[in-house]
Amino acid sequence: MKINPGGTLALEDIVGRDALVQDICARLDQQSVVLVAERRMGKTHVLAKLSAEAPASWVVFRRDVEGVRSAAEFVQTIVADLHPHLNASTQFADWIKARAADLGGTKIGPLTLPNFQGKHWKQALCDTFDHVQSAKDLTRVVFLWDEIPWMIQNIARADAQEAMELLDVLRALRQQHAKLRMVFTGSIGLHHIVRQLKAQGYTNAPTNDMAAIEVTPLDAPDATRLANKLLQDIGCDTQNSTLAADIAQAVDGVPYYIHHVLSDIAKRRNAQAVPTRTELRQQIRAAIQSAHDTWNLKHFEERTQAYYGSQRDACLALLDGIAAAPNRLDVQTAINGAKASFPGIQQNDWLELVRLLERDYYLLRDPDTGQLGFKFSVLKRWWQWHRLSLPIMVEGAVP
Ligand SMILES: Nc1ncnc2c1ncn2[C@@H]1O[C@H](COP(=O)(O)OP(=O)(O)OP(=O)(O)O)[C@@H](O)[C@H]1O
Ligand SMILES: [Mg+2]
Repeated sequence: MKINPGGTLALEDIVGRDALVQDICARLDQQSVVLVAERRMGKTHVLAKLSAEAPASWVVFRRDVEGVRSAAEFVQTIVADLHPHLNASTQFADWIKARAADLGGTKIGPLTLPNFQGKHWKQALCDTFDHVQSAKDLTRVVFLWDEIPWMIQNIARADAQEAMELLDVLRALRQQHAKLRMVFTGSIGLHHIVRQLKAQGYTNAPTNDMAAIEVTPLDAPDATRLANKLLQDIGCDTQNSTLAADIAQAVDGVPYYIHHVLSDIAKRRNAQAVPTRTELRQQIRAAIQSAHDTWNLKHFEERTQAYYGSQRDACLALLDGIAAAPNRLDVQTAINGAKASFPGIQQNDWLELVRLLERDYYLLRDPDTGQLGFKFSVLKRWWQWHRLSLPIMVEGAVP
């Protein structure tokens, strides 16, 4: 297994996620799914594992749709995916030819895909899934669409109405076709895109028929196993050492950061020597403090611009106050701390902001006390250093 922070892993290098994939498959038996998680948590690799391990009787298509710019182009990808599976048992190939003759086509390999310009894409989607419905050998068709929020945003930039219609048509198809399942995921929350569409008049709830399943950090045994495997890769003998468990704990079990820690360990002159706890603590601290942002943590501050718009400054004030506090804060105490600088913001809007920050994985409320804190200690430490110029107070779990 190779250290690979942020790259594409071979299937056998995807650690853990077995229970999650089983869970998603069980849910997909009943309904479609939105996979939600913080950025870089491992969603794309969960999709990879899911497409490899789904029941053999399912036909699963996995696509990154980030580059798709119109509903017509999106429908073309669906037609291209289904074509080999529908060709034998239905009149789908004839339908494709006839549509391409009517509308003009784009040749992709041996296939000429119709150009579903104007509103033709809607009818084409309905026709396509009618073919799926009548194909007796297809019992379950599952589309795994990665980066679908980006796609909807791309489409909305050119034509907001088309983005709204596409979301609605996909929902209608899920209602109409018992064989059809969809999995939506992406590195930005779909709720932000829907919120932007709502500001332009959209009134529907396009995913309220789908189950939301969260991709969480790896649990402690899997996170430790990942750290151990990567330590072995660089020849670091960790027998009788708690190093792997310490790494896993110190970065909240997030596999992306575990790869990064190992990458930093491997860069040392004496890569095979087992670092002491103090060395590990210093190394992680240096990565978080780095002005070069090697772990890509600045993104969590930068994206507040796009996510919170005119409320950005209030949101940052709230997060600053919570990062500065040594312990979790009561919700009202946190709000009061930020409120002084923003007297125009009403209580309800503060509460909505807190809820959004929870939904976007910045904050977490203690289930017993209701108190607010950062969800991930890595981000809290980044915030303390880079925004508040504080020494890093929380050192994660490495004693
Ligand atoms: N199960 C895993 N086992 C080992 N490493 C993993 C696992 N999941 C994720 N990683 C590591 O984290 C990195 C990011 O994973 P991935 O691209 O799947 O996240 P993502 O949630 O799709 O990110 P984004 O939100 O940017 O799309 C991978 O390149 C890899 O280094
Ligand atoms: Mg991804």
